[in-house]
Amino acid sequence: MTTTLDVAKIRDDFPILKQFVHGKPLVYLDNAATSQKPQAVIDSLVQYYTTTNANVHRGVHTLSQQATEDYEGARAKVRQFIGAAEDREIIFVRGTTEGINLVAQTYGRRNIGPGDEIIVSNMEHHSNIVPWQMLCEEKGALLRVVPINDDGELLLDEYEKLLGPRTKLVSMVHQSNSLGTILPVAQIIAMAHSHGVPVLLDGAQSVPHLPVNVQQLGCDFLVFSGHKLYGPTGIGVLYGKAELLEAMPPFQGGGEMIKSVTFEKTIYNDLPNKFEAGTPNIAGAIALGAAVDYVTELGIDRIQAYEHELLEYGTRALSDISALRIIGTAAEKAGVLSFVMDGVHPHDIGTILDTEGVAIRTGHHCTQPLMERFQIPATARASLAFYNTREDIDVLVKAIDRVIEVFS
Ligand code: ALA
Repeated sequence: MTTTLDVAKIRDDFPILKQFVHGKPLVYLDNAATSQKPQAVIDSLVQYYTTTNANVHRGVHTLSQQATEDYEGARAKVRQFIGAAEDREIIFVRGTTEGINLVAQTYGRRNIGPGDEIIVSNMEHHSNIVPWQMLCEEKGALLRVVPINDDGELLLDEYEKLLGPRTKLVSMVHQSNSLGTILPVAQIIAMAHSHGVPVLLDGAQSVPHLPVNVQQLGCDFLVFSGHKLYGPTGIGVLYGKAELLEAMPPFQGGGEMIKSVTFEKTIYNDLPNKFEAGTPNIAGAIALGAAVDYVTELGIDRIQAYEHELLEYGTRALSDISALRIIGTAAEKAGVLSFVMDGVHPHDIGTILDTEGVAIRTGHHCTQPLMERFQIPATARASLAFYNTREDIDVLVKAIDRVIEVFS
């Protein structure tokens, strides 16, 4: 395999991959749902709670200062990883969902009014649909949806038609969680900007798998989750251009987001604290920093190249199974293999695969409108990470053969 990743060595860094499930070696192919954690990330959590645990920003004591330094250090690592200009543009949130809700409830509430339009695509995760629907309902605004073709590619000419004077925001997925489609985001952003419309990118699936540089792309907001980037659950990132974040009202009120409080008036804190009310997920942020270090050390370009090669191998292997149909065949695609089989419900596929030690996700993947577009209730989805191998794909194929046997 033409890769410089030493996957055998990498796998040693992930203790969970040594497990057996139903007596079979675990083949973990549910990375779009959540990724596994390298020992360095686990150690970072343990070390924080063993040696540093204290609240950030509020204490003069040594542990608090150390915790603050490590927490802010993680922010700087994230800033560098996504190519943001300033640390204060990085807001720690719980995950992608909270990041989108934050923008909807602050930027959206302030800037979107009756008759205004928000554009999303037909392949959005519910997290990038529902917060906008809630806002539209409150404000009398309209959600407009860019259609896709049968391969799962965005129809750019239809997008162009939707952009207009009423458009106030484009909120688009970068990489589809259900199909693997990589959207032409540079073009999407340029087209929106030519109408003076800001763009939020849902980077939950893209940031762990391909290089994302917010300054090069020029996106106005980017959101992603730590747990899909080999970090812990409960921590994620909202990036926003400083001038936009400055102009936005706070999301939640409480500690750390204030400069001063009287019963008459509260002065809000500067960025990023203005958006980080309450004690944050300190350990989670620090461990996310460790995950960023791990991925940076491997090289996101090399990760992308390796996973692409694995995707091609997997696509060839699954295409050879006549009983199976791949859903999502975009030319620009990353490591997702979604499929259906005639006469077999995806949940049954997942259950049989599990008995073979193979972990995949089955269901609508929180993209019901997308399932409706393909007129299917659900898919079985194998999703890749850099610790997966061709052998994992071979085991998947054998397990699918088992499904065929059971249902024939
Ligand atoms: N959005 C995650 C997935 O696609 C949970 O599985």
